[in-house]
Amino acid sequence: MSSALLEVDRLQTHLGESHIIQGVSFAVREGSLVALLGRNGAGKTTTLRSIMRLAPPSGGAVRLAGRDLTGLSTWQVARAGIGFVQETRAIFSSLSVEENLAIAARPGDWTLPRIFELFPNLAARRRNGGTELSGGEQQMLAIARALVGNPRLLLLDEPSEGLAPLIVRRIADVIHQLKATGMTMVLVEQNHAMATELADEVVVIGKGRVRWTGTSAALLDASEISQTWLGV
Ligand SMILES: Nc1ncnc2c1ncn2[C@@H]1O[C@H](COP(=O)(O)OP(=O)(O)OP(=O)(O)O)[C@@H](O)[C@H]1O
Ligand SMILES: [Mg+2]
Repeated sequence: MSSALLEVDRLQTHLGESHIIQGVSFAVREGSLVALLGRNGAGKTTTLRSIMRLAPPSGGAVRLAGRDLTGLSTWQVARAGIGFVQETRAIFSSLSVEENLAIAARPGDWTLPRIFELFPNLAARRRNGGTELSGGEQQMLAIARALVGNPRLLLLDEPSEGLAPLIVRRIADVIHQLKATGMTMVLVEQNHAMATELADEVVVIGKGRVRWTGTSAALLDASEISQTWLGV
């Protein structure tokens, strides 16, 4: 028996004619945060989309708490307990903050009051429409919306993208607080400083394969890996 909540096992994904994910394996222990790092086009988003079956894999398996997700629809994967905060944020601009959260709510510990405690700025704007929010507030809402669905595991695709340093700090604080609650997470980031600060384990993806796995501290010593696969 493995203690991993999520197991990605020799995952393969084709997009059109292109073989994008070429046998990616990694595991995420319950309550831990794994950072997926890699250059532009490395396959990070496709890995997350494959887990959600938005890009259905052509081989390998994804297991959540030992349950094989192969064959499920994206909706069923979400119901099985995986929340996905997409790069696009994809909040409903015609709905208010509160309405965006209400339609995503599922029974569990993450109730609206608890969400608003974690995101006081959203509480203050609960009746505002999605378009009236700043980029940072939209990102907070995207995270809040995933949380209110009470997932067992959260996938975050570049939550810091396009945001000012102060807001990035705030997002990092939120992820840190989520970790303290025991939330299990996979974090894709171009902001390596932020990701390695939060990660229990780092998985480096390059050209559709896992090139390195280890702790944030070990990555600092693996300068050849950083140069080749992260370009830093
Ligand atoms: N719909 C598609 N059809 C064909 N190829 C695609 C499609 N979507 C993405 N790709 C290609 O798949 C590869 C991996 O893309 P992906 O978006 O997963 O990378 P990424 O690591 O998330 O990059 P970024 O840091 O830019 O977000 C890239 O070469 C990209 O051009
Ligand atoms: Mg991406």
